[in-house]
Amino acid sequence: MLSKKELLIKYNESGPRYTSYPPATFFDSKFSNSDHERHVIESNNENPSNISIYIHIPFCPQICHFCGCTTESGYTKPFLERYVDAVIKEINHVAKKIDKKRKVTQVHWGGGTPNAISYRYIEKITNKLYDEFKFASSYEMAIECNPAHLEFRHIELLKKFGFNRISLGIQDFRDDVLEAINRKPSKHKIEDIVSKIKSEGFTGTNIDLVYGLPLQTVSSFKKTVERAIELQTERLVTFSYAHVPSVLPRQKILEKIGFPNSNDKASMYENSYKKFVSSGYISIGMDHYSLPEDEFAIALKNKNLHRNFQGYCTRETTGQVYAFGASAISQLSSAYSQNIKNAAQYIKAIETNNLAIFRGYSVTKEQKVIRDVINNLMCNYYVDFNDIAVNNEISINKLYDIIDFSYENFDEFVNDGILEISNNKINVYENGRLFTRNIAMKFDPLVKKNIGTYSKTI
Ligand SMILES: C[S@@+](CC[C@H](N)C(=O)[O-])C[C@H]1O[C@@H](n2cnc3c(N)ncnc32)[C@H](O)[C@@H]1O
Ligand code: SF4
Repeated sequence: MLSKKELLIKYNESGPRYTSYPPATFFDSKFSNSDHERHVIESNNENPSNISIYIHIPFCPQICHFCGCTTESGYTKPFLERYVDAVIKEINHVAKKIDKKRKVTQVHWGGGTPNAISYRYIEKITNKLYDEFKFASSYEMAIECNPAHLEFRHIELLKKFGFNRISLGIQDFRDDVLEAINRKPSKHKIEDIVSKIKSEGFTGTNIDLVYGLPLQTVSSFKKTVERAIELQTERLVTFSYAHVPSVLPRQKILEKIGFPNSNDKASMYENSYKKFVSSGYISIGMDHYSLPEDEFAIALKNKNLHRNFQGYCTRETTGQVYAFGASAISQLSSAYSQNIKNAAQYIKAIETNNLAIFRGYSVTKEQKVIRDVINNLMCNYYVDFNDIAVNNEISINKLYDIIDFSYENFDEFVNDGILEISNNKINVYENGRLFTRNIAMKFDPLVKKNIGTYSKTI
């Protein structure tokens, strides 16, 4: 039997992250505004009926060299104002096509750094959402915040506007690591920020950490994890640094400093997993952790955790995603549609056409089935093929046909002690969870045809 480290090295191949299926690399530039509009109207009769909203603010006062997000710096106040007006115009146009009886269960603000724009703009957009949509009583509204730009009074304002969750991008507590990636440290002590968030009555705080960054060592990342645990936030994420300089040239700068080697990166993952779990956190998906009483942990226990571009969600909060802003991706039952990435071009398109779609994908019935299998695997480490066949109203033989399934395809995983497979069910063992992306790839006809460029799976 291979050791954990040997397995990590063996399965560290290139593969999709499966935040969507098919992955965004397959989106088609022929997909137009009118395709999006048609799918928005159709989505009123598709499941889930809940509405998730994503607002993208693609601006950061300073760009971190490791960052994989779509973001820009050097913007002016009038430009920002035009951007906010464009987002409001886009919301206005799309909301008119959405059935008024449907309810918003989830709103996520991402970026960029949404907490670095004027709070007047945040209020303006949230007010527009309240005007246009009916909100479920237990809706969730979250915002990604860079602590370098977060003041205590901002936390109070966010609460006042109706936010109930804050995600803090910490990445690492060490100032030299942050400096190496061109990132300012937190303005206030993180401990004080988390206390303030709690005292304001937010229902949840999340922390993002990244391992594999320049200057990080196995022992320094251990300390970062220990400090994160002391904060006792409801949720935590440890992202594996994704280095794709061919797509993100800014990341090339980091090559001059160098990265921890893959052995050390594997140890960072493994040590943090052990530390989080032994400290009472529940491991969710590949890289998330939550306190046992958090709804993610409860959903995982009940095998009904879901995932969309905004991250994990529960059956209560999951919805079809309507996304607004430059580069934002809507995730409807039958289609993905992405807006123009460049903010100036996005504004121009919205000002002239109300919409700014530059690519998208109409998901086929077969792909919905594959998506279901991969989502179940990625979220719950478990697939019951009978359930998937029933949910998609097809026979189990048809399902096996679509996912090109044979038991022998999984022999290597079984021999490596990663999973068990029998009676139309796959169950990934706890020590096989890190290889979920590799397992998902076995169901993916696009990967089997060797199409696409991806980062490493681990
Ligand atoms: C939009 S950013 C965070 C929001 C905010 N701008 C900040 O920096 O705190 C979302 C998260 O993606 C993660 N991330 C960004 N680039 C990444 C990369 N190349 N590899 C892995 N994780 C990355 C970081 O942890 C980051 O906090
Ligand atoms: S990590 Fe956050 S602050 Fe840094 S460039 Fe990316 S989005 Fe901006």
